[in-house]
Amino acid sequence: MPDDEPAGADADAGVEEGNTDGADRGTAAEGLDDVDPDQLRPVIASGELEDGDRVIAEIDGREIAVFRVNGELYALLNYCTHQGGPVCEGLLSGTLGMDEDGTFTWDREGKVIACPWHGWEFDITDGYHLASERYRIPTYPVTERDGQIYVVL
Ligand code: FES
Repeated sequence: MPDDEPAGADADAGVEEGNTDGADRGTAAEGLDDVDPDQLRPVIASGELEDGDRVIAEIDGREIAVFRVNGELYALLNYCTHQGGPVCEGLLSGTLGMDEDGTFTWDREGKVIACPWHGWEFDITDGYHLASERYRIPTYPVTERDGQIYVVL
C-alpha cells in the first residue's frame, strides 16, 4: 500500500462517473452560464435548502447530495470511494490544519464530510479525500435559477 493511502483502502473502489478526473481541484459550480437546459435536473426549491443544510435526492438513478455552505452549493455522489457507504449522510464539519508557523488552525468548517461507515473524510468542494488525492467522490455542477436548485448531468 502506498504511503499516502488511507487505512483499509481498496485501490479498485473508485467509481467512474461525475467529475473524478482529478485534473484540477476546482469547485463543482464553475462555468455554468452556457449549460444546455436539457442537462438541468431539479433537486429542491431554493428556499427549502438553508445554509448549512443538505438534501439527498435520487436523480437519473443516482443518489446525489446537494449542500449549501456559506451561500455556495456543492453536489456529490452519495457513494463513498472506500466501500460504497452513504458518505453524504455523515457528519459535516471541518478539519485541523496548520499555519506556516506551525500553529494549528481549524479549517474548512462545514466543508468536510465524514463517511458514517468508517470515517473517511472528504472535502465537499471538490470531492477529494483529505489524506489522499487518489480517492475522490464524484462531484457535479450545481446551479440555482429562478428559485430552484439544479444539478447538471
Ligand atoms: S465506506 Fe468506509 S469510509 Fe465510507
